[in-house]
Amino acid sequence: SAALIIAVDGPAASGKGTIAARLAKLYSLPHLDTGLLYRAVGIGVLDAGGSLDDAEAAEGVARSLDASHLVDTERLTSRGAGEAASRVAGHPGVRAALLAFQKTFAGQPGGAVLDGRDIGTVIAPEAPAKLYVTATPEVRAMRRWKQLTGRGETIAFEDMLADIVKRDERDAGRGAAPMVQAADAVLLDTTDMDIEAAFDAARRIVEAAR
Ligand code: C5P
Repeated sequence: SAALIIAVDGPAASGKGTIAARLAKLYSLPHLDTGLLYRAVGIGVLDAGGSLDDAEAAEGVARSLDASHLVDTERLTSRGAGEAASRVAGHPGVRAALLAFQKTFAGQPGGAVLDGRDIGTVIAPEAPAKLYVTATPEVRAMRRWKQLTGRGETIAFEDMLADIVKRDERDAGRGAAPMVQAADAVLLDTTDMDIEAAFDAARRIVEAAR
């Protein structure tokens, strides 16, 4: 049978990461959370004392990225890393530097699951199964707020919501590979779903598409 590539796109805290991880487990496929790559680039720029607006500096970090930059999960998934990621993700040179790795990952013989913002549109437009996972900003902010405060980060819900809305605008509004639902992606709105219901709906979408 043809390689099963599953593209899972959508905004921050939509549930796409959890859905992607569970689909990967179900189908025994490798999984790449592509947001981690952009988060690692953002952190790399900040650690070097650079500016997130400096496209050349960010591209340099992206070109020298390796697995050692992807191990500190706690830091990579922090609020600051998400913000830094979305700023460096707007530089076309950064996206170009990360392209080959992602395309190679998607092209593995047995298939793969990738989640991000541009998997169905840019990284794997040939994917037979594409999901665009979303939820209202309020519900997404509440999920992320619970996650961050649950591990000790201090943040007001209103600030979390403002973060989410600003990140949506930045990701959807940029010129390079903006966040957008692919024409052939199936929309999955998880606003009123818990993770079990969302995963079940995602699984049915993949079964219908493969
Ligand atoms: O998915 P996550 O919240 O970890 O992504 C962090 C940021 O990385 C996003 O806000 C987005 O700007 C960027 N990103 C991207 N393209 C992807 C994945 C993430 O531009 N495929």
